[in-house]
Amino acid sequence: MTGKIIDGKARAAKLRADVAEIVAGFHKAAGFTPGLAVVLVGEDPASQVYVRNKGRETLASGMRSLEHRLPAKTAEAELLDLVARLNADDGVDGILVQLPLPGHISEPAVLAAIDPQKDVDGFHIVNVGRLSVGLDALVPCTPLGCTILAREAMSDLTGAEAVIVGRSNIVGKPMAQLLLKENCTVTVAHSRTRDLADVCRRADLLVAAVGRPEMIRGDWVRPGATVIDVGINRIPAPEKGEGKTRLVGDVAFAEAAEIAGAITPVPGGVGPMTIACLLANTVTAAAMRRGLEVPRF
Ligand code: GUN
Repeated sequence: MTGKIIDGKARAAKLRADVAEIVAGFHKAAGFTPGLAVVLVGEDPASQVYVRNKGRETLASGMRSLEHRLPAKTAEAELLDLVARLNADDGVDGILVQLPLPGHISEPAVLAAIDPQKDVDGFHIVNVGRLSVGLDALVPCTPLGCTILAREAMSDLTGAEAVIVGRSNIVGKPMAQLLLKENCTVTVAHSRTRDLADVCRRADLLVAAVGRPEMIRGDWVRPGATVIDVGINRIPAPEKGEGKTRLVGDVAFAEAAEIAGAITPVPGGVGPMTIACLLANTVTAAAMRRGLEVPRF
């Protein structure tokens, strides 16, 4: 092991502490406590875990957590009605509708219905557009967390060659916008990119968000590069016993850690940053909507 392992768990704890301090400041100076509303439709087990964790961390930061759990058969109109009520509720600073939604509900229609000022996921077209033209915006939590980790691992991102593997609306595309804002030279590669390994080898900063277990090998990493692994993939682990599994990223960690200058592990890298960034986005949304000084993370 030569590369430095980036401790996302510790950085997320610091971010949560910063958020808690801002929340306490809002209460003292402006007399309000930010509220985050999370909406879960159906009983998807992974979503239930995420929503429970979001609620717990929201409360731990001193904010109000409002959970709305609706049955899987909820009509789209009923969900849109709830979103409209949350939009109109002055005590709600952030709204997150947990994805995926049941098949009979249009995700684009629901995301479009959320007030962009309360869109703590940063998925609304208005926030996507604002980010792309360099205006203040609420930005998706996972790429925001990656940017914070990369900024600190590399000290100066200006002029760095950044290669993002993955072009999703949730990670790859907003990641590209955020790294452009940091003055990187950005390449967005994906599973169909020709000579993908060679493209990755150009990177001073390599962000892996393809969703394929250990696809990015050690010899795709430029010596000394910073590697940020967004992937969370569960694979069989027969060495741990029959039927056991383990989590791996999109990067072959043991190989890449020999070559990289710094690298995020899975678990314990990007993952913990995502919910912490959701809390950060909630205080950002509260400050922007209420005309207060907007914190910088
Ligand atoms: N489901 C999995 N990740 C996310 C996320 O970041 N936001 C929402 N709303 N749903 C998700």
